[in-house]
Amino acid sequence: MPPSGIRVFFDLVLGMKDVISLGVGEPDFITPWNIRERAIYAIEEGHTSYTSNKGLIELRRDISKYLKQRYGLDYDPEEEVLVTVGVSEAFDLSLRALIERGDGVLIPEPSYVSYGPITMLCGGKPIYMRTSPDNGFKVTPKDIAAYCDKNPKLMILNYPNNPTGASYSKKELRAIAAEIVRHDLVMISDEIYCDLTYDFDHTPFATLPGMKERTIYLNGFSKSFAMTGWRIGYACGPANLISGMTKIHQYTMLCASIISQMAAQEALKSGERSVQEMKREYARRREFVVSRLNEIGLTCHRPEGAFYAFPSIRKTGLSSMDFARELLKKEKVAVVPGTAFGSLGEGYLRISYASSYDRLKEAFVRMERFVKSLR
Ligand SMILES: Cc1ncc(COP(=O)(O)O)c(C=O)c1O
Repeated sequence: MPPSGIRVFFDLVLGMKDVISLGVGEPDFITPWNIRERAIYAIEEGHTSYTSNKGLIELRRDISKYLKQRYGLDYDPEEEVLVTVGVSEAFDLSLRALIERGDGVLIPEPSYVSYGPITMLCGGKPIYMRTSPDNGFKVTPKDIAAYCDKNPKLMILNYPNNPTGASYSKKELRAIAAEIVRHDLVMISDEIYCDLTYDFDHTPFATLPGMKERTIYLNGFSKSFAMTGWRIGYACGPANLISGMTKIHQYTMLCASIISQMAAQEALKSGERSVQEMKREYARRREFVVSRLNEIGLTCHRPEGAFYAFPSIRKTGLSSMDFARELLKKEKVAVVPGTAFGSLGEGYLRISYASSYDRLKEAFVRMERFVKSLR
C-alpha cells in the first residue's frame, strides 16, 4: 500500500520557512468557543471515563434528532447510530463490516485519499470510475452502469467532494439511486462536507426513496464545526450493519473520547450560527480563488461545495508533481498535486481555501508570477 500522497508532499514542506500552505484539508478556524467551553466543563465535572461502545446515548439521541429536524431522516439512536473516532473510523468500520475478499468497490476518482487503500486493506478491489471537468467531476448513472460489468458490491460517494468540490442536486442523486437499486449495491455516503454546499440544498443519500435500507450515512464534526482535532464522527444505517460495525469498534477503539462526545452535543445544540458564519467566509473565498485561477490561466470549474478548488495545469506542460514542487521551491506556496487523489488527478492541483483571505491574496500574487515565468 503506498503512503498517502499528501503526506509525501508535505514532508517536503516541513522545515521550509515562510511557506503559504494551501494544502491542508482542515478549517483554518478554531472550534467555536461555546463548544470548547463545554469540553472544559466536562473535564471539570470529572467526565473522564469510557462511554458505551456506541457512544453516549444522549449524543446518539441528539444526532438522531438533528437528522430528523434537518432532513426528515429517521434513525433509532439505540440501534442505528454509532459514534466513532472521526468519519475516518466510521469509514474503515463500514468497509471492514461489509467487504469479503475480492468484493469490488466503486470509487469515483479523483477520490479522497483513504478510499482505495482501506478497500485494499479489507481485501476488496477498488474499481475507479473516471470523473472529469466535462461533467463537473460527477459520476453519472451511465458510468455506474458501465462499471457494473465488474460486479461490484458497494459504492462510495463523497459529496461535496474532496478534492474536486463537486456536489449533486437531488435530481442527480435520484438518478444515481436508481442505478444502485438496479445493480443491488450498498452505498457508503460520506457527507462530511454537507454544511459547505453553496449553490443548492444538500440532500443526504439516505433520504432518497428506497435508499435508507442500503446506505451507510457518514458524517462528523471535523469540517462543519472546525473540530478536526477532537476526532469525532458518526455512522447511521440499518441496525444489522451498525451492529456489525459496533463489534469491530468495541474490540479496536472501544469508544470515542467522552470529552469530545460532550463537546459534540454542544455543537449540535448551539453551533449552527458559527457554521453559517464560517460557510459565508468560505463562499467569499471560493469566488476569489476560482476567479483568480481562471485569470492566471489555470482553468478551474466552479466547486459547488467543500473548501477546495481543483484547477487544471495541463496548459503549463508540467506534471502535477513538478508544478507543485517548483511552485514550492520558487514561490513558497504549497498546494497538493492532483495525483495524491489517484492517477486520474494528473494534470490538476488541489487548492484549499481554508486559509485567510489575505494569505490567499498573497498566494495568488506568487502563483501568478510563477505561471508567467513558465511562458
Ligand atoms: C471526504 C473526507 N472524508 C473523511 C475525512 C476524515 O474526517 P474525520 O476528521 O472526521 O476523520 C476527510 C478529511 O479530510 C475527508 O475529506
